[in-house]
Amino acid sequence: MPRIIALPKATISIQISFLMEAKLTAIGIYAPEKVVDNHYFEQIVDTNDEWIRSRTGIVTRRFAAENEFTSSLAEKAILNMAAEYKLQLHDVDFILVATVTHDQIMPSMACQLQYRLNIPNTGALDISAACGGFGYGIVLAKSLIHSGMARKILAVGAETLSKVTDFSDRTSCILFGDGAGAVLIEAAEKGNIGACVVGAEGSGGQDLYLSNLNTVINGEEIIANNKIIQNGRKVFKWAVSQMSVQFNVLLEKEGLTVDDIDWFVPHSANMRIIEAICKQVGLPIEKALESLSTYGNTSSASIPLALYEGVRAGKVKKGDKVLLLGFGGGLAYAGAIVEWA
Ligand code: ACO
Repeated sequence: MPRIIALPKATISIQISFLMEAKLTAIGIYAPEKVVDNHYFEQIVDTNDEWIRSRTGIVTRRFAAENEFTSSLAEKAILNMAAEYKLQLHDVDFILVATVTHDQIMPSMACQLQYRLNIPNTGALDISAACGGFGYGIVLAKSLIHSGMARKILAVGAETLSKVTDFSDRTSCILFGDGAGAVLIEAAEKGNIGACVVGAEGSGGQDLYLSNLNTVINGEEIIANNKIIQNGRKVFKWAVSQMSVQFNVLLEKEGLTVDDIDWFVPHSANMRIIEAICKQVGLPIEKALESLSTYGNTSSASIPLALYEGVRAGKVKKGDKVLLLGFGGGLAYAGAIVEWA
């Protein structure tokens, strides 16, 4: 005879929350007002507009004001999203902020946002995965919802890279910009965040770093200057080869072919990187969304900026399959396939 065991109510509610899937339901962005074009750099380093456009695809970028910080950009992106989608934020139960340009190391940006937005008793965590950070945020949000740990998550990518740019280095100062993007990810019976990838190759740590301490990365001595230092050519090659592989890993995990992808939103580091990945995986370049030309390389903010612009332009529509893929310092990468809601 089978035995019937009556479960206490609390146990039942935990079991139900375990069945929940993750659904990305809203997106918002903010970029500082100050627009900086390529001619600005002609005055400070040996470069020109034509070189920057043809070698990177960047036309303009935004720079934060002196009294504007990463937390203020992140807060505005969230408030813009809340206003556009008429959202209540008081029941958000987790805040994830991807950034490499924290206002300060401690307290975290996520804790600062919890305080500023007056959201009571929420989990709050910063993610340090450079330009891969927003992708990590999506993956972590999905996992937190699947585990039953959270039901309504703000995942943010926000940067003020202009504050850590070496304006004497022509190979890097032309690249970076400031901005922020936020998404809301909620528990739902039918989710829209599908296959995910995450990974890291710490062996390339010395090829892209930012340190305010004298230190050693992979045996190389690093002199602190609190500026982004990179070996552009090495990062370029790694990004093209590894992201082409990860694009295909995502397709295989989701049981899709490249033709099923409506939009590809890679980290906007360099237009030639995006073109090379598209060529490797066989995706028409017209299906790639970028934020590079307008906002420059905004690290963890670049994917939500591109995605938001794609949605606002009427390109990304309900039901479209969107493949997001972030990569950068670490070296680290993370991505996911999302069916737009
Ligand atoms: N203006 C004019 N000439 C320049 C400039 C410039 N701004 N910068 C470099 N050059 C010169 C170089 O000195 C070199 O001259 P040489 O041939 O006489 O030595 C020539 O242009 C070619 O230099 P490369 O380094 O080969 O240029 P490349 O085409 O690789 O472009 C770039 C450089 C734009 C940095 C590219 O390598 C790149 O985008 N790399 C990837 C960067 C990236 O993805 N970073 C990760 C994200 S950042 C983050 O995580 C915060």
